[in-house]
Amino acid sequence: MPQAVIAGTAFYVPDQVVKNDDLKQYYDTSDEWIYERSGIRERRWIREGELVGPADLAVPAVKEALARAGKTLDDVEMIIFATLSPEAYFPGSGVFLQDKLGLGNIPCFDIRQQCSGFIYGLSLAEQYVKRGVHKTVVLVGGEVQSTALDLTNDGRTMGVLFGDGAGAVVITAAPDSETRGIQTTHLHAQGKFAKELWLYEPTSHRRPRTIADGKDQYPYMNGREVFKHAVTRMTEAANEALASAGWTKDQVDVFVLHQANVRIVQAVSDHFGVPFEKFYNNIHKYGNTTAASIPICLVEAEREGRLKKGDRVLLAAFGSGFTWASATLVW
Ligand code: ACO
Repeated sequence: MPQAVIAGTAFYVPDQVVKNDDLKQYYDTSDEWIYERSGIRERRWIREGELVGPADLAVPAVKEALARAGKTLDDVEMIIFATLSPEAYFPGSGVFLQDKLGLGNIPCFDIRQQCSGFIYGLSLAEQYVKRGVHKTVVLVGGEVQSTALDLTNDGRTMGVLFGDGAGAVVITAAPDSETRGIQTTHLHAQGKFAKELWLYEPTSHRRPRTIADGKDQYPYMNGREVFKHAVTRMTEAANEALASAGWTKDQVDVFVLHQANVRIVQAVSDHFGVPFEKFYNNIHKYGNTTAASIPICLVEAEREGRLKKGDRVLLAAFGSGFTWASATLVW
């Protein structure tokens, strides 16, 4: 079977930079509190009143990723869209993206694995490509989170963490001689913690399914519980990935973890016994962009020369569900 390789990457973020101090107009907060707790200095948010969804953010990212892969829109045989913030309750962002790109009747689907969505999507794309079902699959992680945040002071713990953006990768079948590409993927979930990090509304529990006033229309997170599980599960996931790939920690050139909180990355680095410098982070610029955070990191790590052809990369993510996942790749 051919290797599935990431042949092109790109990302797009809205041009509005929201610095920590800008959030003082909504919250009793400070740059110091946010940076110390999370590592975030600023994030990108769409502008007030803009009719922009994750599919809109994905359009420029997909076009650039295809160009970098040496492919055109005509080559795309499937779209997988990972998002927790689709523009509509149904259908998913994948079909809106297909239409905005002017693509033919190719299959499109959304996956809702939140912060683990990109790696879940990677494992799906790999299957389609390796089995020869599709030669070129576009995988997007894209979010517009800013419109779901509670901008009253009650929402300050969640509201300072999240950003908008989209990352896209083009996954193609490599020639038989190629050994680069996706080596392993592992996926996990534990639904008993679903309510520790969730957005309840709009719920099918109520008729009609309108959004009620009150806190259930905003995301809820049990921050300390999420922090604890994130560290444990991403450390486990990294160990599982290494064992399965047959790599040692020292052989990995770059670790990319979902960008939820730089303190989580620091704790995984400590538990795992790998220097923090081997973890690529850019949360200070974008906040937590959920499904988009790993592809945005991959793009920037490559552009900055931190990620080179032939490098060994380990990805791990943890998020709402709880879900967590890992992947190893030779870049
Ligand atoms: N600015 C200033 N003060 C704040 C803010 C704010 N934005 N938010 C909360 N506070 C206050 C609280 O009210 C509390 O005050 P009190 O002591 O007077 O009651 C104090 O700061 C401490 O609040 P905690 O919630 O206990 O703060 P904690 O140290 O746990 O940090 C945080 C909160 C950053 C959310 C942390 O729990 C965390 O990192 N959790 C991990 C989860 C995570 O990163 N999730 C991201 C999304 S999920 C994902 O992507 C996996």
